[in-house]
Amino acid sequence: MDDGSRGNWLALREDDGRAYLLRRAPGEVKIKGLGRFDAEELLEGYSLGDRIKVGQKSLTIVNPSLPEARRNMARRAQVIGAKDSGFLISWMGIGIGSRVLEGGHGSGGLAMHLANVMGSKGTLISVEARTEHAEVGRMNMERLSEVLPEFPKWHLIEGDMGKIGSLVMEKCEELDAAIIDIAEPWGVIPEVEPLLRAGGRLACYCPTTAQLERCWEAAQKSGMIVEWAGEMIERRWVKASKGGVRPGNTPIGHTAFLLISAKVATHEEE
Ligand SMILES: C[S@@+](CC[C@H](N)C(=O)[O-])C[C@H]1O[C@@H](n2cnc3c(N)ncnc32)[C@H](O)[C@@H]1O
Repeated sequence: MDDGSRGNWLALREDDGRAYLLRRAPGEVKIKGLGRFDAEELLEGYSLGDRIKVGQKSLTIVNPSLPEARRNMARRAQVIGAKDSGFLISWMGIGIGSRVLEGGHGSGGLAMHLANVMGSKGTLISVEARTEHAEVGRMNMERLSEVLPEFPKWHLIEGDMGKIGSLVMEKCEELDAAIIDIAEPWGVIPEVEPLLRAGGRLACYCPTTAQLERCWEAAQKSGMIVEWAGEMIERRWVKASKGGVRPGNTPIGHTAFLLISAKVATHEEE
């Protein structure tokens, strides 16, 4: 099958968006939700874009990208999803060639979104204090690196985000952006702010208002300007059975308050 697929990875996609990642290689594999089979034998004679039946499931063979990789990721800690990741990426100007620090890395939810837009010229430094979380994050990131056409230089530091200044400087001279998703983000702002270039941005992911307020104060105390603080609200709509479209019944769930601050030059003494 000449499929042009990346690193032999393919996704079998259900019509509702659920997807199963598999590698086209000989040998039996067990795919959760699909069962046991030899992927090479199963795909014999099929191409990308074809519909295939696996057990009772009717699936489309597609090239996997970020959404398929995320649907198949292992999860340990709570992950930052598309709603907040997309907003942070755009607001902070993260893109090809960016130098970004993120932590806690957890299962790599945010890191996967970041890696997707940074290209091979980008540098992504992830920090995680707990080994068991770092292992899950590493597994997810390694698989994503095989799925995406380009992947940034990625460094995973196992350690405390409040003590990583010199380690970060070894990987890149300065940062364009830093995103902090740990229980007490305000405590590490004084360590992270000096690593940013002038104009670089620092974001905190804060599930509660008390965290948001403390981060706001800590960012200002470090001389940063708060550019945006607030919450992204997502409301999905559905097609009604009797015609028309309307908001769905899924409740609007709170994820976190976001705070984005920018590094500016210090004021001259009067
Ligand atoms: C909510 S999870 C992060 C989720 C991740 N951002 C994602 O999108 O998947 C918070 C993580 O921060 C880690 N953590 C807590 N304090 C830390 C610290 N001081 N330095 C580094 N990691 C820390 C925890 O072990 C946990 O894995």
